[in-house]
Amino acid sequence: MARVLLGVTGSVAALKTPVLAEALVQAGHAIQVLATEAALYFFAPEAVPPGGFVWQDQHWRVLTDVQEWPGRTSGRLYQRGEPVLHIELRRWADLLLIAPLDAHTLAKLAVGLCDNCLTCVWRAWDWSRPVVLAPAMNTLMWEHPWTCRHLQAIGQDAGLDAGPPLDDALELINRINAQCPRLRVVPPVVKTLACGDTGLGAMAEIEAIVAFVQDLTGGIQRQAETTA
Ligand SMILES: Cc1cc2nc3c(=O)[nH]c(=O)nc-3n(C[C@H](O)[C@H](O)[C@H](O)COP(=O)(O)O)c2cc1C
Repeated sequence: MARVLLGVTGSVAALKTPVLAEALVQAGHAIQVLATEAALYFFAPEAVPPGGFVWQDQHWRVLTDVQEWPGRTSGRLYQRGEPVLHIELRRWADLLLIAPLDAHTLAKLAVGLCDNCLTCVWRAWDWSRPVVLAPAMNTLMWEHPWTCRHLQAIGQDAGLDAGPPLDDALELINRINAQCPRLRVVPPVVKTLACGDTGLGAMAEIEAIVAFVQDLTGGIQRQAETTA
């Protein structure tokens, strides 16, 4: 088993978070869900299994920016020496999976913006540990030139050969997956999307995402953990 930090962003594919979380548990992993604010529009935290990560002496089904900034809205101040959630999550996780990865967070990952807990985890990530990204967006968003630019930037940080810009995102994903030892991008699939458009951009099937995780966690052996 490995510790999988499941980052969830504001794509309609976040509806599948409970199913994906359960599939990861069934595959033998300890998981912890970390959601952006937009992601919480798509699933109920109660629907996911409790996480394996302990924060403020308890297990959380879903961590958000509320836990990153304890007491912020009521005027409480950070006290020197208190743990910082995004750093503790980075220490805990053997693998970071972001599924679904929406266009907005993809852009932030590519340029290093870190204005929420999930993007801070990414920015602070220890690249001796693997990352799996599962993009999901409307077809025209997927086909926009920014998608290739952002994937190429992320790939190059993870070991992709610097080369001429590619304008075929699936070809780029193939190259990233072949050349970057600790980064996998799960190709999106063709579907009639929730918005009614039909085309490429839907998040890959749960089984495909779990298979990518299994591929990169094969060598990780941790004792089983309890969330009781
Ligand atoms: C109903 C609905 C569905 C959406 N689906 C997607 C999507 O599939 N992919 C995407 O990139 N953005 C989608 N968006 C837009 C994102 O939620 C929006 O860009 C948001 O700011 C993302 O924030 P985050 O990246 O911090 O989660 C959707 C928005 C709404 C209201």
